[in-house]
Amino acid sequence: MKDGFRAVPVADGVFWVGAVDWGIRDFHGYATSRGTTYNAYLVIADKITLVDTVKAPFMEEMFSRISSVVDPGKISYIVSNHSEMDHSGCLPAAAARIGPERILASAMGVKALEGHFGPGLRVEAVSDGGSLDLGSVRLGFMETRMLHWPDSMFTYLPERRLLFSQDAFGMHLASSERFSDEIQDWLLEREAAKYYANILLPFSPLVSKLLGKVREAGLAVDILAPDHGPVWRKDPGRILGWYAGWAGHAPSAKAVVAYDTMWGSTAGMARAVAEGLGSGGAAPVVMPMGSCHRSDVATELLGAGALAVGSPTLNNGLFPTIADLLCYVQGLKPRNLVGGAFGSFGWSGESAVLVDKALEEMMIPRPAGPVKARYVPGSDAIEQCVAMGRAMAESMAVKTGLRDNS
Ligand code: FEO
Repeated sequence: MKDGFRAVPVADGVFWVGAVDWGIRDFHGYATSRGTTYNAYLVIADKITLVDTVKAPFMEEMFSRISSVVDPGKISYIVSNHSEMDHSGCLPAAAARIGPERILASAMGVKALEGHFGPGLRVEAVSDGGSLDLGSVRLGFMETRMLHWPDSMFTYLPERRLLFSQDAFGMHLASSERFSDEIQDWLLEREAAKYYANILLPFSPLVSKLLGKVREAGLAVDILAPDHGPVWRKDPGRILGWYAGWAGHAPSAKAVVAYDTMWGSTAGMARAVAEGLGSGGAAPVVMPMGSCHRSDVATELLGAGALAVGSPTLNNGLFPTIADLLCYVQGLKPRNLVGGAFGSFGWSGESAVLVDKALEEMMIPRPAGPVKARYVPGSDAIEQCVAMGRAMAESMAVKTGLRDNS
């Protein structure tokens, strides 16, 4: 056998044939500081089936791994669980090389793939709850609409109790290890949380429903095979449990204080807000946006009970990093937060009010503020910031039950 990229056995007759993207650092606005993987899987049966493909530049790596197990021309079916380009980008070229009998996707997947690549692929729709006979084994399909695209679906291999879960239960983590039990726990939880916060947070109610649907369907899952990051072959219940917790949005004492600053004034206000939060019993996490990425703020917001945002006024508006942050966080629809707005200004002073308005639009109650300081915050403004932080902590305590309010 020629040397090259090798397939990795995942279960009897199932191989990982994906690609490792060590170098990616931006995934449509999400900072992927540890790279990622694009997972594709090969099911060896009478009808050999490829489940998902990879991002276009990684197609040769996928074919090399497939070729280490089987001649790619022997693949009968390609199943597309999700049509986003990191999983379908090479599908037209791969299909042209393989010449499969059938390409299958959910009904919405058919539309999405046609929208990306035109009608030439001739993708067939599978029904929610439908199945595909591969001869010695079969595949079952479950739609997971809006998790996180309309086309998303799971594919289940009952004979191996194996769930191909596309983006769900994934993480952006490039590694030589293919299995979660080979990777340190803190890293798994950190990257899974970051992935959930930045990709799935807006769909938390659907995540809760889906977990119920999986339970109702009686799917026994021994192996969880997502489209990014490691495969869970031992205790997949751990990440299922994490998802149940994150989807519930239960707030903790954590309070995120995100700010940017021009000459240190808004930074000083941020420290005072953090002081008030801390003295009120909250646990502040202070994030200067000149050196923190929006996706790291989103990660900290997972399970947080408060968000305070500070912006200097620049040209009658928000500081650009704060406008960027608010736009991003608004789209993620965080829940169960209390908020606070603050910022320094020279002569017009719009920023703190604009932050406050943005928090209001996110339906985040603000128990105090907004606090504004002209040029450099004096003792009055600092006291107002401390008081706002303490009021937020008290409101959090009521919401989270950290303080007995009976
Ligand atoms: Fe990994 Fe939604 O694509």
